[in-house]
Amino acid sequence: MEKYIVNGGNPLYGDVEISGMKNAALPILIASILTREKCTIENLPKISDVKKTLDILTAMGAVVNDLGNGAVEIDSANVRGGISPYSLVSKMRGSTYLIGAELACFGHAKVGWPGGCDFGQRPIDQHIKGFEALGASVEIDTDEGFIYADADNGLHGNSVYFDVVSVGATINVMIAAVLAKGKTVIDNAAREPHIVDLANFFNTCGAKITGAGTSVIKIQGVEKLHGCTYAIIPDMIEAGTYMAAVAAAGGKINVKGIIPKHMESVSAKLEEMGMTVTEYDDSITIAKTKELKKIHIKTLPYPGFPTDMHPQLTAVLVCARGESKVSEGVWENRFRYVDELLKMGADIRVEGSSARIIGVGSLEGATVKAVDLRGGAAMIIAALAAKGETVITDIMSIERGYDDIVGKLTKLGASIRIEND
Ligand code: EPU
Repeated sequence: MEKYIVNGGNPLYGDVEISGMKNAALPILIASILTREKCTIENLPKISDVKKTLDILTAMGAVVNDLGNGAVEIDSANVRGGISPYSLVSKMRGSTYLIGAELACFGHAKVGWPGGCDFGQRPIDQHIKGFEALGASVEIDTDEGFIYADADNGLHGNSVYFDVVSVGATINVMIAAVLAKGKTVIDNAAREPHIVDLANFFNTCGAKITGAGTSVIKIQGVEKLHGCTYAIIPDMIEAGTYMAAVAAAGGKINVKGIIPKHMESVSAKLEEMGMTVTEYDDSITIAKTKELKKIHIKTLPYPGFPTDMHPQLTAVLVCARGESKVSEGVWENRFRYVDELLKMGADIRVEGSSARIIGVGSLEGATVKAVDLRGGAAMIIAALAAKGETVITDIMSIERGYDDIVGKLTKLGASIRIEND
């Protein structure tokens, strides 16, 4: 088992290049099979979730060619449905998009129950509501762990109103609707940048989608899509994670190759804490010039503060002066990482969906676990600020979503290395 060894205390300086966004790459790779032609997808992050997705598509009959430099060509002419390997599908949440994709391509779907980070319940009732509105029937075999969907008479556009704002349901219903007959209107849609990226990808392939990025998305079904070349947008959560790392460890870095507009809520909260943030066309410079102040954060769907940045900011607030509060507004239970921070000397009290964080000034190195992807990133951030050595185990959770985090942090001056047990 691999682990990270981090020696805290080094401030970070220099440039960090941000990779393509995981949560845009996964749906776009899966959506590419709707074209049944060759698509070239560029700016893919080198992370294990992308590798798993490509392995799933290969097992379904796609021919995947690695073009190097983060680009792959996917030929989906011979893809078949119902055969995605359970062992891979059940390890990630993005695999739910196979339901929409198989329904769109073949009129029926059989997909294993998806995995991903454990935040309490992760229902898919809104995905199902959308598929049913388009004319599919859906059954879940809880014994075998499979989801079956059938649209014997094809998919037909319809109005879909989501009861909760869901990134996954919005994406899945978009995927199902692009080739459906007639018009679909999704109301109370998620507005995340990756929703816009998926719409832009589909429109490049000949789809007719308007309104992505607002809460009403309109999709006029088309008969066929064609292959295209498309580059994934930069990962705002990866960028935010490096910004948080400087807030914890000190220093000044340039976060490059990003869309600063996507960073607004994260930049605003870091500035409120006392960080100096300067925005350029496609980069942000962030510097720590003074002691950090307490703040309150509430996570919300975009453009609110992203839930996927909550653990990293908690790790920063542990080192700030005063008592901060982080309230989780998206997930039932995203505080499992807190026990690990306590091992490093943090003072955090979880009360329902909020955590009170009493600044302790500094942390001590310890052996901690990456309980999930962003919780793992929080461990690295805390370790960069801590006195002494921190050992982080279960790092495969982190490698699901961060491209070369050890290399990028080392280049910024951090002391972090991978070791085998
Ligand atoms: N929800 C329902 N019913 C549904 C779907 C969702 O009640 O049918 C609820 C969830 O329980 C949750 C809320 O709606 O309370 C939002 O869930 P959403 O569907 O938006 O989340 P997701 O699509 O499963 C994606 C990201 C997560 C990120 C969330 C929120 C991917 C693969 N995952 O999950 O990313 O936290 O959106 O932004 O895109 C991560 O990258 O670390 C990560 C966990």
